[in-house]
Amino acid sequence: MEKQIILTGDRPTGNLHIGHYVGSLKKRVELQNSGNFQQFVMIADLQALTDNANNPEKIRSSILEVFLDYIAAGLEIDKTRFFLQSQIPALFELPMYYSNLVTLARLERNPTIKTEIKMRGFNRSVPVGFVTYPISQAADITAFKAKFVPVGEDQLPMIEQAREIVHSFNSTYGEVLVSPEAILPDNKSCHRIVGIDGNAKMSKSLNNCIFLKDDPETLRKKVMSMFTDPNHIRVEDPGETENNPVFIYLDAFSTPAHFEKFLPEYKNLEELKAHYQRGGLGDVKVKKFLANVMEDTLAPMRARRAEFEDKKDYLLEILARDSAYAREITNQTLQEVRAAIGLNYFSNNKL
Ligand code: TRP
Repeated sequence: MEKQIILTGDRPTGNLHIGHYVGSLKKRVELQNSGNFQQFVMIADLQALTDNANNPEKIRSSILEVFLDYIAAGLEIDKTRFFLQSQIPALFELPMYYSNLVTLARLERNPTIKTEIKMRGFNRSVPVGFVTYPISQAADITAFKAKFVPVGEDQLPMIEQAREIVHSFNSTYGEVLVSPEAILPDNKSCHRIVGIDGNAKMSKSLNNCIFLKDDPETLRKKVMSMFTDPNHIRVEDPGETENNPVFIYLDAFSTPAHFEKFLPEYKNLEELKAHYQRGGLGDVKVKKFLANVMEDTLAPMRARRAEFEDKKDYLLEILARDSAYAREITNQTLQEVRAAIGLNYFSNNKL
């Protein structure tokens, strides 16, 4: 039986951070290593252009950085295919057809787009390419006939939009497209990682990220400067763990092995939380532990990154090779789509 297909990707607008890691990269590595799927990972340079039209250099300079972040996270060349969105013509032809199946009202209802428009202060001056990027994203997914899309929670509305497009296309023109499903992280606290300042979103523009490539010193400084429970002033005070960024990160990253290694007086996170909640546990102690946990997580990533950092030509070769492969796969879907709509005028005297 043919392997089921996974397609996912990221916008190259800077380095990837720990939110990307727990939200999606970690899952991709698991899926890759299961050997049960054919996985495509796309560097979405065209989607990145939708709100960076006047700064293509930012995107250009981020492409290999994102690729290195993938490798750092544990994705492997020859186990996963890595390609560039802009090199795959099917991905910009399909949206032309899909656009006719989606209303403006539907696009404007997309909660992620709404938030992003607000965050960028676009209002009605939002670029058309930006409001319609969910349609382009539906093309990314369906061009590969992907069944699964490992993404962070903020991308659920995009998958929903893709499913609606598939439904509409298939019922209008015939069964061609595959309806995709999102794969979210198993651990709920990984669904959305807050910034080190407690802001709901970890984002480069908010300057509140921990990047996968942060060096040990930067990492430690960032963790020690993290926002915690503002009412936990003295060590004796009872503290809140629920909306406390330090504990959210511990939820996402710490394991019982970390406790054994760095904080053996507690068995696990539950014990640590209980102590914090009843009072008598200081922020500094918790942060030092978190700093060790994060260093333990990021150190192997830095090592994997270092292996490829100086191999720019090789990385470009891989992107070109896998992009060529992706073109083949997606052109096949494109032909089926064109035939379903009846645009294949010159084959079998269709006109
Ligand atoms: N929107 C995604 C992000 O911002 C990137 C992306 C583009 C994507 N096309 C995709 C993700 C297709 C999954 C599937 O990170």
